[in-house]
Amino acid sequence: MIPSHFPKQVQLVDVGPRDGLQNEGRPVDAADKIELVHRLQAAGLQQIEVTSFVSPKWVPQMGDNAEVMAGLQRREGVRYSVLTPNMKGFEGALAAKADEVVIFAAASEAFSQRNINCSIADSIERFRPVVEAARAAGMRVRAAVSCALGCPYQGEVSIDAVDDVAQRLLDIGSHHIGIADTIGVGTAGRVKLVMERVLRHVPIYELSGHFHDTYGQALTNIYGCLELGIHTFDASVAGLGGCPYAKGATGNVATEDVVYLLHGLGITTGIDLDKLVDAADYISGVLGRKPVSRVSNALLAKRAHPTI
Ligand code: HMG
Ligand code: MG
Repeated sequence: MIPSHFPKQVQLVDVGPRDGLQNEGRPVDAADKIELVHRLQAAGLQQIEVTSFVSPKWVPQMGDNAEVMAGLQRREGVRYSVLTPNMKGFEGALAAKADEVVIFAAASEAFSQRNINCSIADSIERFRPVVEAARAAGMRVRAAVSCALGCPYQGEVSIDAVDDVAQRLLDIGSHHIGIADTIGVGTAGRVKLVMERVLRHVPIYELSGHFHDTYGQALTNIYGCLELGIHTFDASVAGLGGCPYAKGATGNVATEDVVYLLHGLGITTGIDLDKLVDAADYISGVLGRKPVSRVSNALLAKRAHPTI
């Protein structure tokens, strides 16, 4: 029985094809990326972050962005988003007919410099025309606040700093704010404090959590958000990923693990867990390793040995 203050339904954004694969050192074929997106949509994902239109010098793995977008057999009702750091990226996103662009500013100056080579204030100014152009083109804008629970270079990040960046991203016209624990250091109490503060400005239906699972806290952090009624989360199939500019950070929480938790709570997601495990198994096979998902590994073991 779902506690009465919990959401009845949760939307998951699978960021595996972008946030996950961007961190893979060995090139992954565009055809495999496309197949992954197709499997995710077949599993019922309605929001998929497909790729990023960033500099291929900075993130070579995403250099096939246009090819991947062009190869998609799109499903009605699915929103395909791409990460864009600047106007050049936006132009790529527009040409590729993305439904939504994702912009990202850090709550830590040190991380902003390392990730996008400019200050937080400069990054907001760089995003201003991107947001204007996206809105003019009828595209949605999702804005991520990186390092909201801690920074690999600076350490602690204040709630004021997170709130300030979220407010500035809203002021330039972003539709949605995602609070990102880039290096997965946050714990549930702190996450709730951050979310409660941001909820003073951001409507709950336009706020999401993006939790990397480096310290194994992501599911608990999501549970804390559910207690506040937050009902949108990013997650990454097979627990893929990390961030090239946050060494040691592991992937986002695995989508399979989040779906298992939510379905166990009686919360609907529209996702077929078995088909999602197929997608996780597929991409893990491409990468030559097991999924970083307890649920996928348990269900794959059960498939192999049905009596367990
Ligand atoms: P820069 O070197 O300062 O940029 O990089 P620049 O404007 O001086 O351009 C340098 C070169 O890059 C030029 O080419 C540009 O044309 C080209 P050249 O003249 O040398 O041949 N360039 C581009 N090419 C393709 N697409 C573009 C683009 N822009 C410039 N969009 C820049 C600044 C922002 C471009 C660079 O720092 C960059 O691409 N950074 C991206 C870093 C990244 O992708 N990080 C990971 C994603 S963020 C993340 O994962 C966090 C998130 O998941 C939330 C969380 O967990 O925190 C969202
Ligand atoms: Mg991330």
